[in-house]
Amino acid sequence: MKKVAVLTSGGDAPGMNACVRAVIRTGLYHGLEMVGVRRGYDGLMDGDFLPMDSHSVSNIIQRGGTILKTARSERFKTKEGMEQAQNRLADDGIEGLILIGGDGTFKGGLEFSNITNIPCMGAPGTIDNDLFGTDYTIGFDTALNTVIEAVDKIRDTAASHNRLFFVEVMGRDAGFIALNSGLGCGAEDILIPESKTDIDEVIQRLEDGWKRHKSSCIIIVAEGDKEGGAFEIAEKVKKKFHHYDTRVTVIGHMQRGGSPTCFDRLLASRLGHAAMEGLLQGRKNEMAGLVNNHIVYTPFTQTRKHTVDINEGLLKIAHILSA
Ligand code: F6P
Repeated sequence: MKKVAVLTSGGDAPGMNACVRAVIRTGLYHGLEMVGVRRGYDGLMDGDFLPMDSHSVSNIIQRGGTILKTARSERFKTKEGMEQAQNRLADDGIEGLILIGGDGTFKGGLEFSNITNIPCMGAPGTIDNDLFGTDYTIGFDTALNTVIEAVDKIRDTAASHNRLFFVEVMGRDAGFIALNSGLGCGAEDILIPESKTDIDEVIQRLEDGWKRHKSSCIIIVAEGDKEGGAFEIAEKVKKKFHHYDTRVTVIGHMQRGGSPTCFDRLLASRLGHAAMEGLLQGRKNEMAGLVNNHIVYTPFTQTRKHTVDINEGLLKIAHILSA
């Protein structure tokens, strides 16, 4: 293998740049010609390629977002789109691909590789932490730190006014951000899609807290909760519970930005390096992940989010500790 390309796809995540840097520099170390693909699969189809040397990835390890830009491509899902991408790669002599992204990215990569026989390797880049085959995805830790910083500030004003806040966090249809940040900021309740939300139980916990003279309450709501988003759930609770004045905050895309934490930089560096090494060892269609602090490779067919289990014990701990 002489020439390899790297792309970032799906929602951006802090640490993607550190991962791009690791992929490029590992490839260069092995004497490969390296190429960056701009705008994810859209750029692959359009031949939006950038030759990369060591200098191209200087001074990016600390930067949020992705210097390669990213996209969620509908066009790439079509047969024509995949053929177009295959021709672009052939024209440029690119023989392998490193994909940094989430579930949709690997799904696209698997189909593309099956059709074209071009080997793809992946590194998990998503704030959602919803991939099987790694304890943590790149960007998750930074997103958690963004959430707890925001919630700590909300707690100041909530306690000053004796208010109840519903704070909505991201995670698409997964509750990892809500669960971990909720425990980390001492939230009174955490509502996630993996565990059934019972509004009466939420109210009972609030009543108990009020009786114990709690000066404020924070409820973290995962955006994918089956009972609705933070606004909807706040309305349902307000119909039956009136002790606190209530407010709603949606943290939103702030969770996707910012300089990656040291944990994410380290994870991204290790996984970018491992993805590139894996490709050179002849692996294909696998994601490099970190399990119990060891690098493991998991086939794209198994990284799908439905195989990831949430640790419901954390929810119980959160309830016990916030009482
Ligand atoms: O997958 C990452 C994520 O931030 C999810 O948590 C969220 O549901 C989604 O992307 C938002 O996507 P968009 O940036 O397209 O609004």
